[in-house]
Amino acid sequence: MKILYAASEAQPFAASGGLADVAGSLPKALVKEGHECAVVMPYYKNTIKPEHQKKITFLTSFNVPVGWRAQYCGVFTYDAPDGVKYFFLDNEYYFKRDFGIYGYYDDAERYAFFSRAVLEMLHHVDYKPEIINSNDWQCALIPVYYQIYFKYDSELKNIRNVFTIHNIAYQGQYGMNLLEEILSIPRHMANIVEYDRDINFMKGAIEVADKVTTVSPTYATEILDPWFSHGLDRVLTSKQYKTCGFLNGIDTDMYNPQTDPDIPAKFSVKSKAGKKICKAKLLEEVGLASDSDEPVIGIISRLVEHKGFDLIKQVFDRIVEQGFKVVILGSGDPHYEQFFIDAHRRHPDKVSFTCGYFPPLAKRIYAGSDMFLMPSKSEPCGLAQMISLRYGTVPIVRATGGLKDSIIDCGEKDGTGFTFLNYDAEDMFGATERAFNAYNDRKAWNALVTRAMKADFSWSVSAKLYIGLYEELISWNL
Ligand code: GLC
Repeated sequence: MKILYAASEAQPFAASGGLADVAGSLPKALVKEGHECAVVMPYYKNTIKPEHQKKITFLTSFNVPVGWRAQYCGVFTYDAPDGVKYFFLDNEYYFKRDFGIYGYYDDAERYAFFSRAVLEMLHHVDYKPEIINSNDWQCALIPVYYQIYFKYDSELKNIRNVFTIHNIAYQGQYGMNLLEEILSIPRHMANIVEYDRDINFMKGAIEVADKVTTVSPTYATEILDPWFSHGLDRVLTSKQYKTCGFLNGIDTDMYNPQTDPDIPAKFSVKSKAGKKICKAKLLEEVGLASDSDEPVIGIISRLVEHKGFDLIKQVFDRIVEQGFKVVILGSGDPHYEQFFIDAHRRHPDKVSFTCGYFPPLAKRIYAGSDMFLMPSKSEPCGLAQMISLRYGTVPIVRATGGLKDSIIDCGEKDGTGFTFLNYDAEDMFGATERAFNAYNDRKAWNALVTRAMKADFSWSVSAKLYIGLYEELISWNL
């Protein structure tokens, strides 16, 4: 099978969140299963590191219609040693920007250009996919443009479109005035993208894609409920027949405590001594006392509301007073950043806060903490809890979305973490209390850490689910 995986970010080239991890690891897993997979993404010339740009070579160029204009699009390519092919679509006006990959006044135009360019590209490169898997709102116009402009194209007919929702909170909503001038969607087809009197990119993809997937089975049902759906439950309910959820995997080569070059000591299920060294070194690195054996909670997250920081704020001091140390890494809303700056001032020996995101430090926190706190209000999948398990760090999570699908509470047989159900600070505190007590029974804790490390969240299972879905679509006689 030949698959084209379209994403606005992919590891190791450009990343702002979990989408990049998935786009960097699922294609690898599909190739491992014997299929051909190419990733297509924008060529962000100011973001992709020079060491990667060196490997990327120019292939061809063509023009892309954007409203009444024709915009240049260069195609650069790279064949990765793991067998995944990459296409980088270049237009410096759209993608050579100074302040990160998103958040510009013309994002609608930038990703409409990209989406149309992905399909136009197929006329100019020697890669004819049977499946295009587009991801999130930035690529949501790919199935829409396919429906409008390419479905009856003799070269491109019969391609099946899968659309994957990584986070329904970001939909690509714009005013109807963009329809023809910027998005090149004819007025008589406005109904595809129109939703609540606006243009909604994600709604367009849900409308026309052959299948819609999301990143965990629980999230696939949660988003039918207005509490989770950010307004899209009505269209999702009507398209339930083609929607499903597959739990993401993680890149188990990149996150491997036995080989990780970023952690101070290696460890494995059989020999966990290195984890103790990682803990001591972590406390030293972030400036916390390492004289007593208190449990350390790690938090690595964007500091935004839906990650559950309101709960953390409410009971934070009580958690510290209970006897925990807390190591936080992240940035986001200024009022959460300020909260952790103040918390560090109140408890300088017990709380450390590093503002920003530094992947090597993140790995040292995964490796050196005893527990990992993730009380998300909603969580489509979540990767951090799976990475924590891999490093023997026991997750404390709210049972929602992918957190619910990946963590078994210790109250049950084969538990791997501590979960709570209600979005409530006392319930979260109760879970940390249970974790604290469990930590003090060292033999049982060691068995728990072993179970955590043995949990398998590699792509081997989920890649097969995607393949099954793709094969089903190809077998359709359209
Ligand atoms: C988004 C979601 C996160 C998920 C990731 C990868 O970032 O918020 O839950 O793990 O996408 O699918």
